[in-house]
Amino acid sequence: MQIKQAVFVVSNTDWQKCPPPDRPEYAFIGRSNVGKSSLINSLVKKKNLAKTSQTPGKTQLINHFGIDDTWYLVDLPGYGYAKISKSEKEKFEPMIFGYLENRPNLVCTFVLVDVRHDPMSIDLEFMSQLAEAQIPFYIVFTKADKLTKNQLTAKVTRYREGFLQFFSEMPKYFVTSSVDGLGRDEITQAIGELNAEFKSVRR
Ligand code: GTP
Ligand code: MG
Repeated sequence: MQIKQAVFVVSNTDWQKCPPPDRPEYAFIGRSNVGKSSLINSLVKKKNLAKTSQTPGKTQLINHFGIDDTWYLVDLPGYGYAKISKSEKEKFEPMIFGYLENRPNLVCTFVLVDVRHDPMSIDLEFMSQLAEAQIPFYIVFTKADKLTKNQLTAKVTRYREGFLQFFSEMPKYFVTSSVDGLGRDEITQAIGELNAEFKSVRR
């Protein structure tokens, strides 16, 4: 699947104000600074559609982007950055979970983790909450350009082993870089397949 058009639709603090759930959508989630907004820009091949920053905590709202008038990409605030104050944390977590638990058209969530790190308890806890709420998710390893090919293979193997100590199976995963576009086609293809299923269920 090729993305032809990507436009900003709306930003919200509250899931209840999000656009009508009349088309499939896919949310990008993960720790602050992991590269969610950059990956969205990479998928749609636009530099500044989603706002990015070197400083964690850039995305503070639920942002809907309309793709080809048929589906949405959703950029969410990050969780779990140590320097975010307690009041910020208390604001973001209900916003994120309110959104994740209440969007009937949320087909799948992409959970981003920095490929350089071993599994972090904050991510594993987040993914168990998703599993408990029966929200399907894929794992996206980000910033692959920062490692060599051999290092990447070793890191992904190690992540998988760590992950499988807590979960019975490893979900589908993608190794990506927003710098060189690695993994972009695989993600758009997976979304294309899910969009087709969404249509056939609705029919
Ligand atoms: P918040 O909105 O603050 O939660 O962060 P985010 O997850 O949206 O991260 P963002 O896309 O703003 O990127 C954070 C920083 O990581 C920026 O400095 C990006 O340039 C950098 N970055 C993101 N993706 C990649 C990548 O694939 N490779 C490299 N080298 N840097 C990346
Ligand atoms: Mg962001």
